[in-house]
Amino acid sequence: MYRTTQEHRAGAGSAHGKIILLGEHMVVYGMPAIAVPMPELRAHATAYGRAAAGSPAADAVLDAQRSRSHLVHVDPRSDGRSADSVEVAAHAFMRLVGYTERGVDLVLRCAIPPGRGLGASAACAVAAVRALAEHLECTLTPEILHRAVQHGEDMAHGTASGIDAVACMAAGPVWFESGWVQPLSGPARARIVVADTGITGSTKAAVTQVRTQLASEINQARTHLINAAALTRMAAEDLAAGRIAELGKHCTAFHAMLCEIGVSCGALDRLVAAAIEAGAAGAKLTGGGLGGCMIALAEDDEQAVTVRTALQQAGAVRTWTIPLGRR
Ligand code: PMV
Repeated sequence: MYRTTQEHRAGAGSAHGKIILLGEHMVVYGMPAIAVPMPELRAHATAYGRAAAGSPAADAVLDAQRSRSHLVHVDPRSDGRSADSVEVAAHAFMRLVGYTERGVDLVLRCAIPPGRGLGASAACAVAAVRALAEHLECTLTPEILHRAVQHGEDMAHGTASGIDAVACMAAGPVWFESGWVQPLSGPARARIVVADTGITGSTKAAVTQVRTQLASEINQARTHLINAAALTRMAAEDLAAGRIAELGKHCTAFHAMLCEIGVSCGALDRLVAAAIEAGAAGAKLTGGGLGGCMIALAEDDEQAVTVRTALQQAGAVRTWTIPLGRR
């Protein structure tokens, strides 16, 4: 499935960040979720064959080391075990296409802050696999890309639903349910303000905590799963109809449920309260939680500016404003 030329050319790949509008954590158990891409935050990867000192490829790798870009060595003959989800995904890709020759260096430049629920690990893995496929001059089918990235994501999340891998390649909002994906549309004027608490969260720790919590209270778990699915379905209808006020209420209700299952924190709750106080239609944490980012819904640009200012005053270390609908 790949060409066996001695000197494969350098390959390049990229992907973008995402937010989860509704459904995080419950999506791990087959419930639906809605994600929205953040194309302004991108991860880029370049793949080079292990090169002789002094060659352009070796210089690029040295530059990466000096500039502290993320550098990953992938050896197809290793067992593929690594604490680095990009290496796991890249190694899985090599295995899936039957590549067993020399090792590859991957240089990653990622503008998506890690540990913030914005999909950095999935975007880096997708960018890396795309770069690797171009480098090895092999056909990259959506199935192989997804399977390789999921290996890395399972390592990063414990058990990954697959939503991040889908959202970091999506062109607009998407509905995700048990691996099934459907593009959604949303009102052109509405905005999402994304705010960073500055606290690094761990998706793996959060997913593990939720699993323990749900297993210890089976009846309550059932109620949470049913409520989460209902909120997400209503949100999709509101999104399609452009009912931002109603959509916002569902988001805030989802945040309350995420608080109950223990994945929010003081900083997230303060930002959610500040956004609602400033007139946002709704607000919630996004992604794994235990730190990371929250989102607030605004009817239009003007309201987004007011909400964004309030979030900055309430301690957000970074904010972004993105369209809710397709671009
Ligand atoms: O990568 P994060 O922090 O956006 O988390 C992804 C969403 C979870 O539902 C928490 C995990 C998953 O695999 O779906």
